[in-house]
Amino acid sequence: MKKIAVLTSGGDAPGMNAAIRTVVRAGIEAGYEVTGVRRGFNGLISGAMDELGSRDVSGIIQQGGTFLGTARCVEFTTEAGRTEALRQLSRAGIDALIVIGGNGSQQGSFALSEAGYPVVGIASTIDNDLYGSDLTIGVDTALNIALESIDRLKVTASSHERALVVEVMGRDCGYLALMAGIAGGAEAVVIPERETSPESIAEEFQEAYRRGKQHALAVGAEGSRCNAEALIAYFRKQDGLAFEIRATILGDVQRGGTPTAYDRLLATRLGAGAIAAIARKDFGCLVGMLGGDVRTTPLEEVAGKSKELDLKLLDLARILAN
Ligand code: F6P
Repeated sequence: MKKIAVLTSGGDAPGMNAAIRTVVRAGIEAGYEVTGVRRGFNGLISGAMDELGSRDVSGIIQQGGTFLGTARCVEFTTEAGRTEALRQLSRAGIDALIVIGGNGSQQGSFALSEAGYPVVGIASTIDNDLYGSDLTIGVDTALNIALESIDRLKVTASSHERALVVEVMGRDCGYLALMAGIAGGAEAVVIPERETSPESIAEEFQEAYRRGKQHALAVGAEGSRCNAEALIAYFRKQDGLAFEIRATILGDVQRGGTPTAYDRLLATRLGAGAIAAIARKDFGCLVGMLGGDVRTTPLEEVAGKSKELDLKLLDLARILAN
């Protein structure tokens, strides 16, 4: 084994650059030539690959996003797309591939691995819903950005005695909403794992004012049925509300941030773990952080599964709202 490649795929996550940097430097140290693939699996299919040296990854540890570019590649979900990707890998003489990404991306890794190609995944998504890692690269930064916004919004909401809805990312997973809700002191948390209704949010808000609060905050995940749009549409139709309500959708603001120390270190440890996995020929696995250690989990256990949210924390969030 001489030549390895690395790509980033799916939604970008702060810390991806730190992971690429480690793969390149630890990979070279272990005696590999390292190739960077542009724009995720798209670059595999089109053969957009360049060799990376230590200097190519200088000055990127503190940058959010991914300098290799990323994409959600529909073509790669087809047999024809994957066959072409394998052809390009063989044409470029690449012996193993590292895929930095979340759920959809690791399903792609699993498909390549099923086809007999040596792949190692690195757990990275701001949604933190990937099975095989307690925390994934990017979620700490995204959560801190959400919290900073929530803290600011609460100040102005208190001054005006308003209610506010803050929507965070998380397509199918409420991790960010639940943690931001707990750490941000929300009166209500709205997550896809346990749907609620606009009526019960309205009731939570009324109750908060009855208890003498100066503002009422709901933090919700974009993937919930009761997201910011649905809540605002509902509240607009209500007459005689005792409070004014405003909504803020944080969106991509959460993804593009400067990686926190935690994310840089996590990315660095997982990047080194991926090179170690390749060196011991432990392929077809995801490198993640489990119980404080860098560990591997077979991709077949990871693919198509989501990490479950601890719903006891939702009950705790409700108690803390008193
Ligand atoms: O998977 C990470 C994530 O940020 C989700 O929270 C969000 O729903 C999705 O990506 C958005 O994806 P895109 O940037 O491709 O629209």
